[in-house]
This record gives sequence, C-alpha cells and structure tokens, in this order.
Amino acid sequence: LEDLQFSYKGILFPATLSSPETLEALKSFEARSDDVILIGYPKTGTNWLDEIVRELESTDAKYTEEEMKETINVEKELQIFPRLEFGDPGKFERMKKLPSRRIILTHLPPHLLPRSFFQSKAKILLLVRNPKDTAVSYYHFNNNLPMLPSFASWDEFFTAFMNGRLSYGSYFDHLVEWNKCIDNERIMVISYEELKENQIVGMKKIAAFFGFSLSEEDFPRIVKKTSFQAMKEKSKETHGKFGDILFRKGVVGSWRGYFSKAQNEETDRKFHDCLRGTKLAARMKY
Ligand code: PPS
Repeated sequence: LEDLQFSYKGILFPATLSSPETLEALKSFEARSDDVILIGYPKTGTNWLDEIVRELESTDAKYTEEEMKETINVEKELQIFPRLEFGDPGKFERMKKLPSRRIILTHLPPHLLPRSFFQSKAKILLLVRNPKDTAVSYYHFNNNLPMLPSFASWDEFFTAFMNGRLSYGSYFDHLVEWNKCIDNERIMVISYEELKENQIVGMKKIAAFFGFSLSEEDFPRIVKKTSFQAMKEKSKETHGKFGDILFRKGVVGSWRGYFSKAQNEETDRKFHDCLRGTKLAARMKY
C-alpha cells in the first residue's frame, strides 16, 4: 500500500502521478488574473466539470473545433498533465507558455495550493458531491486502477475513507478547509447534484461567474456534448481502457447499494460534526 502512495504534509498521493518535488514546486506557481481554476476532491465529477467549462470557455472565445483540439494538443506537447499536482516539477515553467485563458484543474485542499491562487484575481470554481456517492465512486476507482491500492472489501475501503487513509486524504477535511474560503467572492461552489438536476441552470451560473457570454442555443448543445453517454463514448479515444472506470455510472444515489445502516449513520454523524450549519453544508443540501 505504501509503495503506491507517498505522504506529503500528512496527506497521501499516488506516487506514479505526483511527487513531493512537484507539490513543493507548485507552491510558487504564478496564477494569471484570467486563469479559470477548477477544484474538486477526486470522484466529485471533475472530468465532467472540466469538459463543461472547456465548452463554455471555447464557445465564448469563439474557437472552432480545430482550435479547441489545438489547445489540448499544446497541453499534451508541453506535458502539462491534466491536474496541477501531476507530473514533474518542471511543468510549472512550461505552463507559462500556455496561452490565456488557462483552464487549471486540481484535487487539492486550499493549504496545498499556490498562494497566488488567493492573491491574484483568478476565479476558483469548487465542485462538491455527496460524500456517500463520492466514496462509492472512489472505491471502484481504487480497486480498478493499478496505480492506486486495492481494498479487500467495501467495509475496508469505508474505514479508509472515514480515516482519510487514501489518496488526497479525508474528503471531510477537504470540505472543512474549503468551507473556510468560500466567503471570498472570487470563489464559487457548484455541486454535482445540482448539475445533474438542471445542467443548463448550473452552466448559466458558471458562465456568469467567469464572465463567459453565450447564446441561449449554446446551452442545450453543450448539455448533449457533455452527457455521460457522450463522454463515455469519447473516452475510448481519450482514456483507452480506463474510460469505463472513469465513466462508471454517472448518477446520484448509487451509494444505497453499498452503505450499511451503521455506515450511513456514521457518515451523517461525521458530516454533521464537521460541517453542521455551514454554508458548504447548505450548498450540499446536507
Ligand atoms: S477523477 O478520477 O477523480 O478525476 O474522477 P472525477 O471525474 O472527479 O469523478 C468521476 C465521477 O464523475 C462521473 N461523471 C459524470 N457524471 C455525469 N455526467 C457526466 N458527463 C460525467 N462524467 C463523469 C463518473 O461517472 C464518476 O462517478 P461514478 O459515480 O463513479 O459514476
């Protein structure tokens, strides 16, 4: 278990994807005032949000399909892995070559992020998801991805999830830390559940927040393009055989088949102990 992950400031990370040197170098990364920063704990739907925001941004910028592919190719050529904390420490220098607006995605809690994220005018969109669905999604991910440790049973995973003994640490700690930051007007919170419930309303909020202007007819087009089915289909090109692991179910409430009554109560108790009465809890309707 320890070989696959390393510990940085008390939090575990996947050793094949990140390193202490990269996490250290990341601290001095310089944000631009027009950076579009997307943040979410693993399995909260970050790939979906990334795709949605790329579509919104490129529509506003009036990019053609070709130009949009080109941006993604430049990121690949420069070996800018699609999470700020992935890859080698030299990537932050290479990221200076990316044209604006850069879309930056990370799973990190605020205390591990570059200071410039909070000092520049860059806007941050925080994605949250019900901890129970997040846990189930993460359980399957850990058990199907060779670069993450496997768990012998759901019960074993549940214990690790509650203790934060897994990559990126405790989701509860992540939420508690982020809750301290969300009064900042440059930070907006969106939930996986509200995007599922009404993606157009959610996308309009996101567009307004980042100042993207789109026409009414753009929204249904983007909904179609970023649907679970469409993204799962496309993932065969973009993610190969991992596509089916990354795009597993894409629904709200699949935790019900996994949590025992006691585990359900323990999760509710923990969530309430950590976040009762907070803005973030209200946003999560918890
Ligand atoms: S990762 O590996 O941490 O980057 O995973 P992440 O992308 O954050 O989260 C994966 C979950 O998001 C679901 N997903 C979607 N739901 C709805 N619509 C679309 N288009 C979509 N794309 C991805 C994905 O299925 C994972 O959730 P589960 O519950 O496992 O299906």
